[in-house]
Amino acid sequence: FSQYPERTIIQRPIVAAHRGVPSMAPENTMVGYRMAYDLGADQIETDVQITKDGHLVIMHDDTVNRTTNGTGAVHQLTLEEIRSLDAGIKYDEKFAGEKVPTFKEFLQEFIGKDVVLLVELKDHGIEQQVIDEIKSEGMMDQVSMQSFYLDSMQLMNEIAPELPIGYLFSASVPGSYDAKLKNAKKMVDYGTSNDVTLNASYGTVYAEFIKYMRQRGQMSMHWTFRAEAPFVDKLKQGLIGPITDYTQWLTASPIQL
Ligand code: G3P
Ligand code: CA
Repeated sequence: FSQYPERTIIQRPIVAAHRGVPSMAPENTMVGYRMAYDLGADQIETDVQITKDGHLVIMHDDTVNRTTNGTGAVHQLTLEEIRSLDAGIKYDEKFAGEKVPTFKEFLQEFIGKDVVLLVELKDHGIEQQVIDEIKSEGMMDQVSMQSFYLDSMQLMNEIAPELPIGYLFSASVPGSYDAKLKNAKKMVDYGTSNDVTLNASYGTVYAEFIKYMRQRGQMSMHWTFRAEAPFVDKLKQGLIGPITDYTQWLTASPIQL
């Protein structure tokens, strides 16, 4: 995996901070991302969507309801409306005033820093715009993409083959297991000039896929670790890339196997 040429699993897994560090700070906020970086995350995971007036912002859910003090669908709100919301206060009053980050703000925070940004596309049709913003910040070598949309990742690969791409795979999203497995394998086989990863939920498909990927010498990331027991279990099985809400477990205080 070209972004980590010298890293081996024996030293430490490649830790991706899922939406920042939601166990310690509000998800998908700048304060959470900075915390992830300070804790030594190798990657910072985030979710990109487009506003009603065509701006890229960071939000996991379709609506702002759960994580902010506002209501409404991201696609139905303007950037100005979204930026007027508080994305920290519901988590804890001490985070009051945190805003929903723009994608640009997220990128700019980490320019030239020793961290990879793991960017998930939550929308179709924003591939070119996402690439344009990454390029305009000169960060093509600092970003990995991922999506549940295979076609989206393939389009990204056509536009910018130098960007690593990952197909998100979960046994719980709609579609048969066999269909997803077929898509995942298609994804892993897709393209030869770039890194391709398979980012699977760790529960049901872990053992099968980690073996498949390791045999091919390819990277796989697995999500979302929120409890210590499965973490330890999968690390023992050779987990390379945990995506976790608890970055602090593996960076500040690495688990002893
Ligand atoms: O990084 C994998 C994970 O983020 C995919 O699921 O729903 O948390 O975006 P979700
Ligand atoms: Ca995500």
